Amino acid sequence: MTDLPPTSDVPVLTIDGPSGSGKGTISREVAARTGWHYLDSGALYRAVGVAAGWANVDLSDASALVRCTFDTRVRFQDTPGGEPRVLVNDVDATTELRTETAGAAASAIAAIPEVREALKDRQRAFRRPPGLVADGRDMGTVIFPDAPYKVFLTASAAERAERRYKQLSGKGVSVTLDGLLREILARDARDANREVAPLRPAEGAVLIDTTGLGIDTVVERVLALLPARYIA
Ligand code: DC
Repeated sequence: MTDLPPTSDVPVLTIDGPSGSGKGTISREVAARTGWHYLDSGALYRAVGVAAGWANVDLSDASALVRCTFDTRVRFQDTPGGEPRVLVNDVDATTELRTETAGAAASAIAAIPEVREALKDRQRAFRRPPGLVADGRDMGTVIFPDAPYKVFLTASAAERAERRYKQLSGKGVSVTLDGLLREILARDARDANREVAPLRPAEGAVLIDTTGLGIDTVVERVLALLPARYIA
């Protein structure tokens, strides 16, 4: 028995890596430059985490979380030039999804195998012409193992904490650099050590360490992996 997706002619570029490695920004920019669709798989896990919070579901109640995963509707709406708006059960949850609370809830529920299973088909449905940029932790290893283009982005924990600090304090969220660094290290350990789909580079993925690199440089390195005909 296999749950591998049928091979498809639609090209996929998977961009995996830990939080704060720049995946979201880089993936959105690469999607814009290729005209490909964009899957923010982390937003799906965050959406279930947020919906579970709204419904007062205990994060240790695996079967309730699995039900919540099936019941949670998530829709992405493009906004001109910005981050897509995310509607969870028809409520705009874009800001709430980005909070550390939502991230921690997502990380906890992402360790439940049935939750991951329940989200598989939803993620694979994003593979539509002309192509897909898939951003996450297991895009190249589990969801799109047959993707022809795979990248694994990293950055030092200190730099990732700093990026997150700038991002959150810029939005007026009160956080400390130390607190963020601790959260990042804890989340890395959880994501890398869980039994199901642990965070690791896919076979054949190109590793890019973004520490000290600007967004444009990373985008160009990623685009250089794609045949020129895909770049708008
Ligand atoms: O990329 P992010 O920070 O939005 O992801 C939130 C959490 O969801 C992260 O801690 C791990 C989990 N996640 C996952 O397990 N698999 C994915 N493909 C994407 C996210």
